[in-house]
This record gives sequence, C-alpha cells and structure tokens, in this order.
Amino acid sequence: MGTRNILITGGAGFIGSHVVRLFVEKFRDWHIYNLDSLTYAGNLENLKDIESEGNYTFLKADINDFSQIEKLFKKYNFQKIIHLAAESHVDRSIANPDAFVRTNILGTVNLLNAARGIWGSNVENNLFYHISTDEVYGTLGETGLFTETTPYAPNSPYSASKAGSDHFVRAFGETYNLPYIISNCSNNYGPNQFPEKLIPLFINNIIEKKPLPVYGDGKYTRDWLFVKDHALAIKLLLEKGQNKSTYNIGGFNEWQNIDLIQLLCKIMDAKLNREEGSSASLITCIKDRPGHDKRYAIDASKINKELGWSPTVTFEEGLEQTVEWYLSNQKWMKNVTSGEYENYYNKQYS
Ligand code: NAD
Ligand code: DAU
Repeated sequence: MGTRNILITGGAGFIGSHVVRLFVEKFRDWHIYNLDSLTYAGNLENLKDIESEGNYTFLKADINDFSQIEKLFKKYNFQKIIHLAAESHVDRSIANPDAFVRTNILGTVNLLNAARGIWGSNVENNLFYHISTDEVYGTLGETGLFTETTPYAPNSPYSASKAGSDHFVRAFGETYNLPYIISNCSNNYGPNQFPEKLIPLFINNIIEKKPLPVYGDGKYTRDWLFVKDHALAIKLLLEKGQNKSTYNIGGFNEWQNIDLIQLLCKIMDAKLNREEGSSASLITCIKDRPGHDKRYAIDASKINKELGWSPTVTFEEGLEQTVEWYLSNQKWMKNVTSGEYENYYNKQYS
C-alpha cells in the first residue's frame, strides 16, 4: 500500500496554499508535504494558521534541482503528487521566457523522472496530478467554449510552457504507464493572490489611489473562479478522477475586463466610503499585452457530469469576500509589496 504521504508542489503560492490548507484539514490520516523554492510568488505567511499541524511539513526545495528532488522522493516515498509549482504570470513570461521553460517544462520533467524512480512498475496506488491552465487552448472568438478535446494553441511563452508540461505528463503516462490526471482551469481569484494579477493589483492600486492600467481597450474576456472552488475540484479529482484523463475546470462566469473593473471600482468606493466614481476615475488604458488572448471560457461539463463538481461561490460573494480579505489584511499586502514576506521563512524555519 506504501506510505500515506502526499506531495504538493508550489504550496506557498496562491492556489497551492488553499490546496495545502484544505488537504491538511480534510486528509487527517495523510501527511501533507509542501515543497516550494519560495520564489517571489511563494509566501509562507499564507499558511501560518496551519504550519504547526501534525500532518504538515514544509520542504524548501527547487524542482529545477534534480538531485535535491530525487533525495526527497527517496526519503518520503510520496504516494501521490499534486504539482502546482510554476512560473505563473503571463507578463513575466513575455519579459523572460527562459525561466518559464526551466521551471514549467524542465522542472515538471524532473518531478516525473523522480516519481518514476520511486514508483517503478507497481503504480496501483500512485498518482501524478498536474495542475494546468485553460491558456493552453489559446484564444476563443465571440462564441464557443474550451472542451477537453480543443486542440492546444498556446499564444504566450507562459501558456506554451504549460502546454509543454502537459504534453510531458501525458507522454510519461503513455510511455511509462505513469498514472496521471491533468486539469486545465480558468482564472482564479481570492485571498492571498500576488498583487501582479488583475484583481489584487487593482484592489491595491485603488486603496493607494494609483492608476489602474487597463491593457488595450479592456474588451478581453476571462472566466473567473473562486480559488476555494478550484481547491475543492482538485480534492475531488485526486479522490475520484479517472487515471490518464484531463478535466476542464471553470466558473461558468465570463466577464469582459472593463466590466469587471467597473464592478470592482463600485465595490471599493462603497467599502472605502469614497465618492461614487472615484475609483473608476483611476482607470487608464495603456498599451496592450503582446499576443493578448481575446477570450477564455470553459466547458466544465465533464467534471460536473462525472463527479458532480460545480462552483459553490457566486462571483458576487467571491468578489465581496476577496475585497474584504484584502482590506482586512493590508499588512499582508504591505509585506508583499515591500518584500518583507521573503524573510518569513528565515524567521519561522531556520
Ligand atoms: P503562484 O505564482 O502564486 O505560485 C507558484 C508557486 O510555485 C510559488 O509558491 C513559487 O514559490 C513556487 N515555485 C515556482 N518555481 C518553483 C521551483 N522552481 N521550485 C519549487 N517551487 C517553485 O501561482 P498560482 O497562481 O497559485 O498557480 C499555481 C498553479 O496553477 C500553476 O501551475 C499555474 O500554472 C496553475 N494555474 C493558475 C491559475 C490562476 O488563475 N492563477 C489558473 C489555472 C492554473
Ligand atoms: O486562465 C488562467 C490563467 O489566468 C492562469 O493560467 C495564469 O497563471 C493567471 O495569471 C491568469 O492569466 P491572465 O493573463 O488571464 O491573468 P492576469 O490577471 O494577468 O490578467 C487578466 C486580464 O486582465 C488579462 O486580459 C490581462 C488584463 N490585465 C492584467 C493586468 C495585470 C490588464 O488589463 N491590466 C493589468 O495590469
């Protein structure tokens, strides 16, 4: 039967920290290992409420360092792997594609090799679950939805690197019989998201009365999902997903950027007791993102029909909770924007 050790990579990041917390709470008879190299996006403060739980251990390691990864795999003999560690921001991938190739493709292949190394051919109880993105499918026109059979057509270095990693996971399944699941999810939002992504960046800028940089005409569409609903889908797929399958996960919740930004501005005016329209007056249209995908929208009917998953949090509730969280955690935001959060590991763990 093997150990009852689950490895989560990238657990100090935005989505990973919600997955780690959920797993530590729900899988009491499993030990949850969070492996993260703590890049600029990794913040252990995200997990301070659960860091002393008996079934949780943090491992500081880089997935790009195969010998370090191999040692940890041999030591802990992980039975299941949920792989979230990645470079995740499209704009950074445009500025520096190499880091995305390294971590997202080569780092993933390191994990696949290390998993093969400890599992051998007896893989009955094992799973390599790769967390991916809807961006691998490229862009939609005005209509239609991404399904699990939509051909891959990535347009940014980020999405090309995620597409590459998806292909390697699948290839290890076909070639070496490595058990795997891949899920491709739409845009997540919620507490603990690094303020380089649209929603937390704009919340922060509104608080600080800074310009809100809208790319192009703002008529780009994204399908938004509350991060805790993504974490619940991941838990369900780990427990009940079909080996060697892919699943799309989405919010059934499409918004044009400009409409979402107007809504956010309205909520922020009310929360900050500012005159109506004062946040919207910060909107500034700037040069477009190169290769900007026009529209993403997910058909999540497979995971819904097979496993009964659907989002539990409406966008109105989720956005309200997110805004509330950022307003009551301004210290978190200050630590992140000043860089102070990067000292948390040294204070707590060494
Ligand atoms: P994030 O940038 O907030 O977190 C990434 C985490 O990975 C960080 O903790 C970072 O320290 C860690 N990491 C990066 N490079 C590493 C390395 N070489 N070794 C070990 N750890 C490393 O990302 P996120 O938004 O939480 O996304 C998590 C995963 O989900 C990514 O794989 C991303 O592609 C995927 N995803 C994200 C979204 C979204 O909307 N944010 C949607 C779909 C899929
Ligand atoms: O679809 C899933 C993907 O969603 C994930 O795989 C990525 O990891 C995640 O970063 C996210 O990618 P996007 O590029 O869609 O997210 P971002 O928050 O960067 O941008 C959302 C939209 O807002 C996009 O159309 C670009 C626009 N935007 C973004 C920023 C940061 C702006 O107009 N201005 C901005 O300053």
